[in-house]
Amino acid sequence: MNIKKVNFNTSSTTFYFAAGIAHLKEFVDVQHAVMLVDEQVFNQHAKRFKGWKTIILKSGEQYKKQSTVDAIIKQLIELGADRKTILIGVGGGVATDVTGYIASIYMRGIKFGFIPATILGMVDASIGGKNGIDVGVYKNMVGTINQPSFILHDLALLNTLPEIEWQNGFAEIIKHACIKDAVMFRELEANSLKKYQSKKTLLCDLIQRNALIKTNVVIKDEFETGDRKLLNFGHTFGHAIENTYKLSHGYAVAVGMVMACMISEAYQGFKDTNRVVELIKKYGLPVHQSYNAKKVIDVMKADKKKVKDVISYVLLQKIGKAVVEPIAISEVENIITQLEAK
Ligand SMILES: NC(=O)c1ccc[n+]([C@@H]2O[C@H](COP(=O)([O-])OP(=O)(O)OC[C@H]3O[C@@H](n4cnc5c(N)ncnc54)[C@H](O)[C@@H]3O)[C@@H](O)[C@H]2O)c1
Ligand SMILES: [Zn+2]
Repeated sequence: MNIKKVNFNTSSTTFYFAAGIAHLKEFVDVQHAVMLVDEQVFNQHAKRFKGWKTIILKSGEQYKKQSTVDAIIKQLIELGADRKTILIGVGGGVATDVTGYIASIYMRGIKFGFIPATILGMVDASIGGKNGIDVGVYKNMVGTINQPSFILHDLALLNTLPEIEWQNGFAEIIKHACIKDAVMFRELEANSLKKYQSKKTLLCDLIQRNALIKTNVVIKDEFETGDRKLLNFGHTFGHAIENTYKLSHGYAVAVGMVMACMISEAYQGFKDTNRVVELIKKYGLPVHQSYNAKKVIDVMKADKKKVKDVISYVLLQKIGKAVVEPIAISEVENIITQLEAK
């Protein structure tokens, strides 16, 4: 186990890397804890939760909504949860987002911690304090920013993770390498998903480094006024095609990163699009999606991150170095229309 405490603006989070759920009892009082566990994770790892009070969360984004929150709050009241209770979210980003949100509002806020069970959860969703729920088609429309008191990684949970979720998680890992870490980019080029899946020490190291990349970006910019925007690399175009073409998040981001690389060539003189394309392919992710430019632009215009008529596009100067470039929507529209034909 490797313990690391990090300080945010007003609170701190302790990471327990390479830990195992069994270690939880060393720093959490079982009597005062309630676990909110993703149904798939619970079914496939039931014995790990023996002795803990648990509430099962139905799996899937469609349950990340207010009626789920209401139902869980009811169960918390029935269990006698009070201000001394700590909530522990176990599962992917859906479970941790919902847990963080409920803990932030139950009795005006109680303590919470996370045990992420997906790669994406470990390197991305559990970190940074953003939590919340969707409202109809609007993703993450309601929520708070509030840091968990701990994040524990139990890599044994990944033994049951479906292949597509590995790929989704690696899209964010490739993103981190592109924007912040050229050395890690080269390491990813030299390895493969199969290798990380079979060599736990290699995977463990990669996950820790990625968790710390996101953590460091968030520490510098907890409320997303600057550096945190870099984490949106691949996400502007990615979000715009994700729902329209029913792509998984990682697949959409992968295609979005390729688009961002091409725009980077024009605006930043970026020269390594090919390396990014090859790396994305190597990890089983798509590099292309045919799309209708008008539809995509309409979704981008509706995106809540848009400020007036300019999009803050995250571009690469080189591998490991990203910048935010404000680009007029009309300009983005031109580029996307030109590339549509290709
Ligand atoms: N708060 C943030 O900063 C942040 C950042 C990125 C993403 N997110 C959110 O995270 C969510 C996506 O997270 P996700 O990709 O982890 O999806 P998810 O939570 O839906 O999990 C993906 C699927 O894998 C299953 N699963 C999870 N762990 C498993 C395991 N160990 N074994 C077997 N099956 C397992 C789940 O049941 C689910 O079906 C989205 O709602 C997104 O908005 C939040
Ligand atoms: Zn993402």
